Amino acid sequence: MVVSRCSVRSIEFSCVYVVALCGKGMYLGLVWRFSFVLKLPGLLSILHCIFGNKVAMASCYFNPIPSSSHFISADLTQKFKIPKLVHRKKRFDGSTRSSKITAFYGLKTPPYELDALEPYMSKRTIDMHWGEYHRNFIEGLNKQLEKDDILYGCTMDELVKATYNNGNPFPEFNNAAEVWNHDFFWESMQPGGGDMPKLGLLQQIEKDFGSFMNFREKFVGAALSLFGSGWVWLVLKREDKRLEIVKTSNAICPIVWDDIPIINLDLWEHAYYLDYRNDRAKYVDVFMNHLVSWDVAAVRLTRGEAFVNLGEPKIPVA
Ligand SMILES: [Fe+2]
Repeated sequence: MVVSRCSVRSIEFSCVYVVALCGKGMYLGLVWRFSFVLKLPGLLSILHCIFGNKVAMASCYFNPIPSSSHFISADLTQKFKIPKLVHRKKRFDGSTRSSKITAFYGLKTPPYELDALEPYMSKRTIDMHWGEYHRNFIEGLNKQLEKDDILYGCTMDELVKATYNNGNPFPEFNNAAEVWNHDFFWESMQPGGGDMPKLGLLQQIEKDFGSFMNFREKFVGAALSLFGSGWVWLVLKREDKRLEIVKTSNAICPIVWDDIPIINLDLWEHAYYLDYRNDRAKYVDVFMNHLVSWDVAAVRLTRGEAFVNLGEPKIPVA
């Protein structure tokens, strides 16, 4: 494409005029992209002189960082330098406007249809539990982090551990941990779940609890004796190299103690009130008989064995 120097100049000034007139990041982005097409080296420096950092913001609009991307830093004392993202929001009148993206963390969906656990956990319960409570936790977290928070961009694991702050939790901890706990909880169940684990997981449970029935009794007992709201967990203890049952109050998640969770059960009343009223015992029994996913638990244990050697070391002899 041949463009004369004169027409280049006129295009440059036209674009700058449009930008100056509209003053929107969106138009800046168009000019930015247009400048590459026409190879106009002077245009960016002109825009930069006039609008400064807005040019960078416009660039982000057209080259957005994927929402699933996380900025990971081992040193949380260093503030993350993350550009402001800009997106267009549909307005009722069909036009668009630019606004800052604040919802960095997304709501994960359960790995099954919302009615797939019927009749043991109703769609009505999951609609409310996942669609309202879980969503509120993630929206609350995003709101807490929206102002260039030092924690903005951590993985959820990092966020939970960092905000726990060795037992003196930051304000973000409850929302972060409840997001983590619920993501884990939905995946701890499956349609046609319950019954007994198999193979390696069953053997490990029998080794650490004597028998599956002993384990079951202890898990149910922990769930029923938890005071107030919280969670019961089957975890792999790194130091003890064994499975154990732990109870946590409110939002606390055992990864803050470096445990490796295998299964969790939500014991907040919102998890079972619609289906079982205040009959926690019935809810726990149904979870063990029909909902818990031993398939997922077996995968998690196998993953955990990458960090914890549960048997005698098998070191190849040269
Ligand atoms: Fe819950």
